[in-house]
Amino acid sequence: VSDHSYEDLLKKAENFVRDHMAGYDPSHDWPHVDRVRRVAIRIAKTLEPQPDMLVVELAALFHDLDDKYRTESSPTLSDLLSPFLSHPCLTSNQAELILKIIPNISYTSEIKSRSKNQWTWQDECKELFAVQDSDRLDAIGSIGIMRCSAFSCKINRKLLHDNEDDGHGAEDHFEEKLLKIRDRMKTPFGREEAERRHQTMVSFLESLQKEKELLQ
Ligand code: ADP
Ligand code: NI
Repeated sequence: VSDHSYEDLLKKAENFVRDHMAGYDPSHDWPHVDRVRRVAIRIAKTLEPQPDMLVVELAALFHDLDDKYRTESSPTLSDLLSPFLSHPCLTSNQAELILKIIPNISYTSEIKSRSKNQWTWQDECKELFAVQDSDRLDAIGSIGIMRCSAFSCKINRKLLHDNEDDGHGAEDHFEEKLLKIRDRMKTPFGREEAERRHQTMVSFLESLQKEKELLQ
């Protein structure tokens, strides 16, 4: 593989992310990133005009590097990514777009950019939509249920709440966030898949209620 090729860049990016995330818990590990990358590419292929696939794939690969695990002394995202973003097969526009997309994927950052009440690049960036919808899909449905349990374990949150302890179990995260995701999707593909995954969570929660009734 020539070191000026896309394959070379993607392989190096993938190896870097895999190593960097090796110690992360299963709610945010390499398999999460790999799923987000694959589904982002599928979503991007359904969009017209077709987004820049290399930007989509790299933004997806790098999207959780700068997450909850950073400390004061962590390098900035652009320092961390500079060896990849200066690769000969990436233009400076592509590199800049990747750096712009990553901090704008989360819903919290979306709310912040909305509060200005103006039309911004975030409202029309197809590369952003593909990664955003893909990351959101990974938080819902069957995989979402498993990730919610994994994250809860990491933060010492119990699975279920009991009556004296309302609002403090992993099960409460569905109301807090996961059941709201369906209405926040950006692409037709994302909306359709989110609808299916939403129903999976609804059936799961109904079944959970039945199981809890036996404990009364
Ligand atoms: P993402 O990588 O999809 O942006 P987040 O960082 O928001 O995800 O969360 C990672 C995973 O942990 C998600 O699947 C989410 O449902 C779960 N999670 C986040 N916060 C909580 C919480 N307070 N309780 C239980 N699960 C949570
Ligand atoms: Ni993610």
